[in-house]
Amino acid sequence: KSKLVIAIDGYSSCGKSTVAKDLAKLLNIIFIDSGAMYRCVTLYALENGMINSDKIDEDKLKSALNNISISFKFEAATKTNETYLNGELVESKIRSLEVSSHVSSISAIGFVRKKMVELQQKMGETESIVMDGRDIGTVVFPNADLKLFMTASPEIRAERRFKEFQEKNENISFDEVLENVKSRDHIDETREESPLKKADDAVVLDNGKIGKEEQLNFIVEELKKRD
Ligand code: C5P
Repeated sequence: KSKLVIAIDGYSSCGKSTVAKDLAKLLNIIFIDSGAMYRCVTLYALENGMINSDKIDEDKLKSALNNISISFKFEAATKTNETYLNGELVESKIRSLEVSSHVSSISAIGFVRKKMVELQQKMGETESIVMDGRDIGTVVFPNADLKLFMTASPEIRAERRFKEFQEKNENISFDEVLENVKSRDHIDETREESPLKKADDAVVLDNGKIGKEEQLNFIVEELKKRD
């Protein structure tokens, strides 16, 4: 097939991006981390005083939305996509616990989703793509060639994120990370606007049970079935 669209959805921190990146590399197609886009909007809102304690100034955010430019640049040295917000490299900033603790509230806002979905669909218009997120198979690319839904227990997922924070020497407890993972899942699953949900035609992949190689093999087999 000339143009391939692969949608990967699932809970927070269950290894979606890792699988998506490996798959993109294997198939030599682009990879887009849609969560990074919602994280950029959240960072922008935080930096511009639109989130005070837990209250979001939606009017201010709505009128600023068109000033938020998000782009990805493939970094040859690290072989990863780096995220830019209005020209600034924000890859590290958008992964902070502060951004993580507000991102699900920001991404529950209808006008934010509408804008992000438009941008994401445009990215998949012309080129083969693998995109990971929460609503990629249900809303962004309902006609994707392959849809995967990834899961793993909250503890396994929190453990993974906790290790990442430790590597960055960030002083965050395991319980805080677990709490964040659980609370994001809850907001993502129960929001009104395109909640996190397995698409009817998605294939389930439990990332807690099988390793990286096996997952890739599994996906390649699924792709073959659809050829
Ligand atoms: O994938 P990641 O965990 O970085 O995404 C951060 C947050 O962005 C999620 O918890 C979710 O609230 C939101 N998100 C979303 N829809 C997507 C991708 C992410 O609502 N397609």
